[in-house]
Amino acid sequence: MSIQDQFNRPLRDLRISVTDRCNFRCPYCMPAAVFGERYQFLPKPQLLSFEEITRLTRIILRLGAVKLRLTGGEPLLRQDIETLVAMLAALEGVEDLAMTTNAYLLPQKIDALKAAGLKRLTISLDTLDDEIFRQMNGGRAGVAKVLAGIEAAEAAGFTPLKINAVVQRGVNDHTLVALARFFKERGHILRFIEYMDVGNKNGWKLDQVLPSAALVERISAELPLEPAAGNYFGEVAQRYRYADGDGEIGVISSVTQPFCGACTRMRLSPEGDMVTCLFATEGISLRDPLRAGAHDDELEAIIRGIWRARSDRYSELRSSLTPDGRDRRKKVEMYHIGG
Ligand code: GTP
Ligand code: 5AD
Ligand code: SF4
Ligand code: SF4
Repeated sequence: MSIQDQFNRPLRDLRISVTDRCNFRCPYCMPAAVFGERYQFLPKPQLLSFEEITRLTRIILRLGAVKLRLTGGEPLLRQDIETLVAMLAALEGVEDLAMTTNAYLLPQKIDALKAAGLKRLTISLDTLDDEIFRQMNGGRAGVAKVLAGIEAAEAAGFTPLKINAVVQRGVNDHTLVALARFFKERGHILRFIEYMDVGNKNGWKLDQVLPSAALVERISAELPLEPAAGNYFGEVAQRYRYADGDGEIGVISSVTQPFCGACTRMRLSPEGDMVTCLFATEGISLRDPLRAGAHDDELEAIIRGIWRARSDRYSELRSSLTPDGRDRRKKVEMYHIGG
């Protein structure tokens, strides 16, 4: 049974953030100056247990979700994550089970993830230029480390992979044709994400956004592209295929071409808040009623109520909410709900 919100958008995807920790410090997400040695991440008792995540997910699947994605922070930092993967893979109604990771720990985890039933992997890599990459991840890893993760994923049969690259004008935009060429040759699907004003800590400014249309033009000048039809309702990426018939890219243009009209995504934070928009100012705790002893049908009624009441469309409202290009509302942080 599927439920719909105020704009008749069905619930289709559940994005589960399993930890607020990360081994990278990408300045656009968790700037090291803010997330230093003494930053207080969530203590373990506050995190949902695997049993709690699985129980909530079972209820959310009953409400119409069919796609699950594990994110973070960095999901591979959650101890025994493969156990959770196996628990989720066994649930009725799961059509897709994916993970978004920075790949740092993939070589040591990949076989366990595959055996547990993970279906798809998305790996973040913003550039092949080692110096720029280090700058974009807070100096935590070189490109070779991520490429090793990609190779491990290829060897385990997770192909094609999706590769996410955040585009920051003046930082990595001049390196993106090379990135496109590299992943075209390897047969993976590269997606470029416009730098977004998620959270309040990354100092986002509109002039750091390179509109996807301009990027597509630049890539197409060297590797001709043509628009391709979408794969499914609610897809965030617009697809382009290479005119030579060999491969595709995607662009995720939340800033210049918002896609809220087809937003089918619910998010679950590590401590069990239900969040209905990437740019929300707050979530609503499901952990509190769950730990107070609520039954499944009571939890279902709470989730249904939140989704029905939902009217988020932040990206469509961005320019009116942020007339001077700066949003002063306190927002949830991306590292906390995983994008
Ligand atoms: P597929 O199932 O492979 O199509 O996955 P996906 O397109 O949902 O991919 P992924 O989860 O990797 O999302 C890619 C990026 O798009 C995220 O990291 C976010 O940066 C952005 N994104 C995803 N969902 C939303 C959303 O609802 N709103 C906005 N503004 N951005 C989103
Ligand atoms: N803007 C756009 N994308 C972002 N990501 C993290 N922060 C931002 C931001 N401010 C990306 C990560 C990863 C995905 C989960 O979201 O690089 O690929
Ligand atoms: Fe970590 Fe991903 Fe955020 Fe970078 S973007 S700090 S890898 S969670
Ligand atoms: Fe959905 Fe909010 Fe993203 Fe719009 S900005 S697509 S409502 S998550």
